[in-house]
Amino acid sequence: MEFLRELKRTHRNGELRPAHVGEQVVLMGWVANRRDHGGCIFVDLRDRDGITQVYFDQTVDPAAHALAETMRSEYVIGVRGKVVTRGGNVNPKLPTGGIEVAVEEAIVFNEARTPPFPINDRVEVGEDLRLKYRFLDLRRAPLQHALVLRSKANHVARDFMVEQGFLELETPILTKATPEGARDYLVPSRVHPGRFYALPQSPQLFKQLFMVAGYDRYFQLCRCFRDEDLRAERQPEFTQIDVEMSFVDQDDVFAVIEGLLVRLWKETIGVDVVTPLPRLTYADAMNRFGSDKPDLRFGLELVDLTEAASQVDFVVFKNAVAQGGLVKAIRLPGGGLTRAQLDRLPEVVAPYGAKGVAWVRIKEDGGWQSPIAKFIAPEQQLDIATRMGLEVGDLAFFVADAPSVTHAALGALRLHLGKTLDLIPKDQFAFAWVTDFPSFEWDPEAKRWIAMHHPFTSPRPEDIPLMDTDPGKVYARAYDCVCNGYEIGGGSIRIHQRAVQEKVFELLGMSEEESREKFGFLLDAFSYGAPPHGGIAMGMDRLIMLLVGTDSIRDVIAYPKTQRASCLMTDAPSSVEIEQLREVHIRVQPPAK
Ligand code: AMO
Ligand code: AMP
Repeated sequence: MEFLRELKRTHRNGELRPAHVGEQVVLMGWVANRRDHGGCIFVDLRDRDGITQVYFDQTVDPAAHALAETMRSEYVIGVRGKVVTRGGNVNPKLPTGGIEVAVEEAIVFNEARTPPFPINDRVEVGEDLRLKYRFLDLRRAPLQHALVLRSKANHVARDFMVEQGFLELETPILTKATPEGARDYLVPSRVHPGRFYALPQSPQLFKQLFMVAGYDRYFQLCRCFRDEDLRAERQPEFTQIDVEMSFVDQDDVFAVIEGLLVRLWKETIGVDVVTPLPRLTYADAMNRFGSDKPDLRFGLELVDLTEAASQVDFVVFKNAVAQGGLVKAIRLPGGGLTRAQLDRLPEVVAPYGAKGVAWVRIKEDGGWQSPIAKFIAPEQQLDIATRMGLEVGDLAFFVADAPSVTHAALGALRLHLGKTLDLIPKDQFAFAWVTDFPSFEWDPEAKRWIAMHHPFTSPRPEDIPLMDTDPGKVYARAYDCVCNGYEIGGGSIRIHQRAVQEKVFELLGMSEEESREKFGFLLDAFSYGAPPHGGIAMGMDRLIMLLVGTDSIRDVIAYPKTQRASCLMTDAPSSVEIEQLREVHIRVQPPAK
């Protein structure tokens, strides 16, 4: 028993091969499966390395065999025994399938209750249950695969960045608000009644200050915190590969990130990423795909029919154009949607504010089968068909609305068609850079300009005068990295001159007082010798999600939160003792019903 009690393992459960036959080994792990064949009991012994079949033969050791009769799934056991060949009974599905271990001695370290779901990836289990018993879900192969890959990716990223001359530096978690467009998570101060730290939405200002301090080439695998509406690719806390460099332009940043992507893809899944990555401007992305994070794995590009539509008698089209809107369309070669599927399309575009979507099927004689055919004269039908290259059997879909609505609706419809008709190739990675974003967006609700990236992004130098006259025409030196319809990174060349930064704060409606109060330290830093600098942050969770081939970042985060930002395992967020609240000078005012 010494070996077992002293927990001296000789091998992991994925290691033994026919070359080990005849050796005495000590293995430990979980009972994945137990099969009782009377005088002989077989157990699949599992650890994160793999599975080894061990057997308890009554004639080899009656005590071990008797113990094995008590074993159940997920018991934690140790065994000592001899590696033997499986002869003709090789299991080709297991790397250890050529051998098994004849147990001569066994110990049960711990019993286990029947788990709420089998630790077996062939069984579908509801996500809530999996999140509540995350420690059990983590035993299953898909999560294990994801987290092992994630560990590997972290190391590859670090190695690459260090090789490229970057310093890995840390920045505070208890800090002051850094605006990235979400709400802050706040932490009350005990020492300073009524004051709060904010958890960083990103290390943006600290990394810029590193540049001011002369620490050129910084990176960090850092946690960011954002209180925003959650989706499949958004968590309240997530990880970035955060990067900042001095004396660089956009191409220098792209070169580093392209190198990083090549290494990550090659070393984790053996896929070659071809660089340089294609680039498209924000305007192109919106016009052609209706999205600033286009999925470039398939076609179905948007066609602009605004000019043609201004000529037709259909009021929906005419009014949209008259009000400065756009009429755009998608051609679906060969059709391929049933009438029932067509009838459901309004549900696809409604969430984006579109009032409708019109469709046309080109009949054998070239005529239009369409709810809007009667509103559009034959020669105008021909004009539209020519502009779109419509052929017999094709379907076309039209949306007429304000530009942002038309783009969002058709962008969503394009993805819907791609998925419904299985037009999107799997196992393909379509990376691209999206460049030339506008600097500022008008927020009609707040009635003010907001920064499209963040307020520290440099406008194109030639556009700076436009900030006084036509802010909507100012372009930013900002860029996003996209892949398969996801934004996997974003960054910019920064403002490094105090006067320009002050001008941007002013444009964003901040008083001098407010900008001093919020960002005085940054403005100060810019007056003590700030180098030109720029950088980017890559969304690590999304990168891993793509590498693993899943469509939710919850599948690649060990302990994620639900859509409602709670942790079903620990029950966070939870209430706290009154005394704890008193210490931090907080009184809770529940929301009015
Ligand atoms: P940005 O806000 O674009 O830029 O964030 C960078 C990348 O982080 C990922 N990301 C998220 N991933 C999961 N859950 C979230 N809630 C979430 N939010 C963002 C995305 C995104 O592209 N400081 C700037 C970077 C810079 O300018 O250098 C920033 O944080 O993949
Ligand atoms: P209606 O006259 O309202 O029945 O609309 C006729 C057709 O036009 C229907 O197929 C609607 O889905 C479509 N439609 C309505 N509004 C729009 C819009 N904004 N853009 C495109 N098609 C629309």
